[in-house]
Amino acid sequence: MRSDFPLLQKQPELVYLDSAATSLKPQPVLDAMNEYYTGFSANIHRGLYDLSERATVAYEGARETVREFINAKQAHEIIFTRGTTEAINGLAQSWGRQFVREGDEILTTVLEHHSNLVPWQMLAREKKCALKHIDVNDDGTLREEQFLKLLSRQTRLLTITHVSNALGTIVPLRKIIQQAHAAGIKVLVDAAQSAPHMPLDVQYLDADFVVFSGHKMCGPTGIGVLYMKERVQEKLELPWHFGGGMIKEVHLKKSTFQKAPNKFEAGTPPIAEAIGLAAAMRYLQSIGMNKIRDHEKQLLHYALKTLGAIDGVQLYGPNNPAMQSGVLSFGIEGIHPHDIAEILNEDNIAVRAGHHCCMPLMERLNLPATVRASFYLYNTEQDIDRLAAGLRNVKKIFKS
Ligand SMILES: Cc1ncc(COP(=O)(O)O)c(C=O)c1O
Repeated sequence: MRSDFPLLQKQPELVYLDSAATSLKPQPVLDAMNEYYTGFSANIHRGLYDLSERATVAYEGARETVREFINAKQAHEIIFTRGTTEAINGLAQSWGRQFVREGDEILTTVLEHHSNLVPWQMLAREKKCALKHIDVNDDGTLREEQFLKLLSRQTRLLTITHVSNALGTIVPLRKIIQQAHAAGIKVLVDAAQSAPHMPLDVQYLDADFVVFSGHKMCGPTGIGVLYMKERVQEKLELPWHFGGGMIKEVHLKKSTFQKAPNKFEAGTPPIAEAIGLAAAMRYLQSIGMNKIRDHEKQLLHYALKTLGAIDGVQLYGPNNPAMQSGVLSFGIEGIHPHDIAEILNEDNIAVRAGHHCCMPLMERLNLPATVRASFYLYNTEQDIDRLAAGLRNVKKIFKS
């Protein structure tokens, strides 16, 4: 399917190994957005003319496509946001403000992306509540046994990643979510790194909130999803944004609001982006999420073997395709990850180097930074061979 990606066609020499940061976009996504912009680019919901109605149908159709993709019960449980970050901040500011009190506790893990940490730090500061963290083992797997120990009567929320963007660790969530619910605790799942790469069934997971971004799953930037269970929605009084599109009645001194999802989508939403995201999901489904996961498993297996055979290369994380997504963090003894990434760039190999927005995890593992190669459906074993050759070249340069 590499021919579906215009960027790979324009740059056949490119080895793109940074899909955990953002994915490349296939032609059907660009076509769907282009069709909206050139064919019916009106605003939604308010217009009584054909173009606006067509745009509304396409936007609400996109919501239905998302519902189906993640197997939500109801389309109104799908709220479009600008991305994972906005969804988490929004929840901290709405759900957090309503349900978290002084002395309460929020439980999270040291694996989290800053997006699923800093908003809760801010809430904890405002509410004078405590933030507690489940630790990881040295291989980046979660110390699940700590979860029950850290739970207390004060715990209000468990906010946890599904897949680590820095190490690829897949967190076995179902049991943890069941235990959290048994203790009456709400659960937020950061699915930014799972929704694009493996089947995601929100009814099976049974989390209260699931968030992810469109741009990491072949969709456009500027759109993400907040899945919120109907039962939780009903109890959430206020959204985090106010304005047009979400109100029922406005008077000079007071306003009333619509029901979800409109209540949570103030202002003109990302219409073209929702249409693009739906096209991305249809594209991924036409290939099959199980097939994508299997492909990435194979690539990771090959990468672990190939990079692991290079002297001086240190692999971080579980190093086990059964519990790791297509993300591989590594380093070379004595060479800074930034230098590695820059030299690889000269060979047209795009990887990321740094803390990957996971500074607490880097601190925990005692690493200043790592190089991260992340795979997607368009990557091949030849890409990994090129990466391995690039790393041998890096070593040669640093030896001379
Ligand atoms: C696990 C995880 N959570 C949250 C985010 C933030 O996503 P966005 O920048 O699309 O809001 C990312 C992005 O890298 C991520 O990998």
